[in-house]
Amino acid sequence: MAAIIIDGKEIAAKKKVEIASEVQKLKEFGVTPGLAVILVGNNHASRTYVTNKEKTCRELGMHSVLIELPEMVTQEELLTKIEELNGDPAIHGILVQLPLPKHIDETRVIESISPLKDVDGFHPINIGRMMTGQDAFLPCTPYGIMVLLEEMGISVAGKHVVVVGRSNIVGKPVGQLFLNQHATVTYCHSKTVDLQYHTSQADILVAAVGVANFINADHVKEGAVVIDVGINRNEAGKLCGDVAFDEVSQKAGYITPVPKGVGPMTITMLMYNTLKSAKNTLR
Ligand code: GUN
Repeated sequence: MAAIIIDGKEIAAKKKVEIASEVQKLKEFGVTPGLAVILVGNNHASRTYVTNKEKTCRELGMHSVLIELPEMVTQEELLTKIEELNGDPAIHGILVQLPLPKHIDETRVIESISPLKDVDGFHPINIGRMMTGQDAFLPCTPYGIMVLLEEMGISVAGKHVVVVGRSNIVGKPVGQLFLNQHATVTYCHSKTVDLQYHTSQADILVAAVGVANFINADHVKEGAVVIDVGINRNEAGKLCGDVAFDEVSQKAGYITPVPKGVGPMTITMLMYNTLKSAKNTLR
C-alpha cells in the first residue's frame, strides 16, 4: 500500500493563518513582532533561506530587518551588532544564519544572543530548558516535525523513534522532543554498527543525514512513519531528501516529501517563536 503523504506545505499554510491572526491581535496592544536576521557573507543557499524568512515575516504582518555583513566582518563587529539588537525593543527575535565564516566562533555568537530573543532555540539556556521539559524556544525544524505529526493525528507516546543524524540543529533536539513526548528514542549516526538493524525497528524514522537517497526501503519497517529532513540535490540536480522516496513510499505508512514536507514547517515555527517572544513582552 502506498504511504499517506504528509503535506507540509498545507499544514504550514494553516499554521501561518493562525499566526497572522495572532499578530493582528497583538498589534492592537501596540506590539508588532519583529525579527532581525543577520546574514554574513554571500553563501547562496543561506541567502535564499534568509530571503524566504523576510518574505514570510511580511506576509504574516511582522516587522523584519535584514542585516547583511561582509564575509570579512570581525567577530567583535558581529557581537556588537547582536548586543545592539538584544537591546532593541522593536526586535523580538534574532537569528544569525549559519554557517558562519571560519574565522568566527559560532558558539560565542550563539551564546551572545539574548535567550529571550533566541527564536532559533540554539542558545544553551533554551536547549537546557527543552531538555528538562520547561518552557523554551524550541529549534524550528524539530518543532516543525512535532507539529506535523500532531496535525496528522499520529501519536508518539510509547513509539520507537529512530533518529538518523546527530546534528545540534536537528538530530539531537528532535530526539529530545520525542523523548519529552514519551517515545523510546534511538540515535544512529556515522559510527553506528548495522544501521539497518536499528532503522528497520522504527515506528517513526527521522532521516537527518544530508545524503541523497541514504535511506531505502530495506531500512524501513512496513507501515512506519518516515520523516525526511534532508535537502539535497541528486546527480540530475533535482531537489531530493535523504530518503529514496519512490521505493520507501511503497512501504511506509506515512512519509514527508521533499520539497513540501518538513521544509515549510521550519520557517513557520520561526514565525511562531517570534510571535511567542513578542507576546512574552506583555507578561
Ligand atoms: N542554517 C541552516 N538551518 C538553519 C537554522 O535553522 N537556523 C539558522 N540560524 N541557520 C541555519
